[in-house]
Amino acid sequence: MQLKRVSPYVGAEVSEIDITRPLSNSQVHDLHHALAEHGVLFFHDQHFDHDSQKRFGRYFGELDIHPNTPGPAGHPEILPIHGDATSKVVAGEGWHSDVSCTANPPLGSILHMHVLPESGGDTLFASAGAVYDSLSPRMQAYLEGLTAFHSGDRYYRWRNAKEGIDDSGRRYPSANHPVVRPHPVTGRRMIYVNSFFTYAINELPEEESAAILQFLYARFADPMFQTRFRWRENSVAFWDNRAVQHLAIWDYFPHTRSGSRVTVKAAA
Ligand code: SIN
Repeated sequence: MQLKRVSPYVGAEVSEIDITRPLSNSQVHDLHHALAEHGVLFFHDQHFDHDSQKRFGRYFGELDIHPNTPGPAGHPEILPIHGDATSKVVAGEGWHSDVSCTANPPLGSILHMHVLPESGGDTLFASAGAVYDSLSPRMQAYLEGLTAFHSGDRYYRWRNAKEGIDDSGRRYPSANHPVVRPHPVTGRRMIYVNSFFTYAINELPEEESAAILQFLYARFADPMFQTRFRWRENSVAFWDNRAVQHLAIWDYFPHTRSGSRVTVKAAA
């Protein structure tokens, strides 16, 4: 297995490994550490089907079932990621960490792309550790010990309304998380608030919380801390939701982009 950093702060391309086949313990160990170090790993020419994608995901933890979007028959753990000429909305069109609204948010997500538009449909990734490191020591100290409230309500209901889905009977998870969350593998301090799921910083007055959140979101939007992944058919991105945020660019309407994702639970 070969690793090549794709930008100074985040992301590495992994080659000379076939992740669609069973892996050895040492391969899984190396990938786990590479993920913790780089935040997101990119692979090309990986012809996953649902079973091999789920097997790959399970090397890193149990698979999650998405709280809003059920998978296809027989594969509830597969989250379809799809946009075409009939789409009113696509997944992930803003900076976020996947389902941070749950009490134990996922370790990572593994997206396999099957169909791509002729151009566009790239995904951006930003390093939550680099964002933390970029703050002044005074701001780092100010944020230390604060917690934020995350909920799936606002984002999922907004998406469902766009898609004409009646979700009035559904309930979405919510949870509090530290604003500065040390990475469980590296111990590196990381900012863990995002525009999809975070509502407010609990210990601050409303206006101050809103201003601090906007300030932190602007850091994630700084290209300095990002990498941009240009997909090919059968590319795979495996991102660490504790270490990066991502944003899917919907610049390819009315063309089709289609893939499938599995989400790996963090250890309880
Ligand atoms: C997502 O999982 O948030 C979507 C990512 C993408 O479509 O690139």
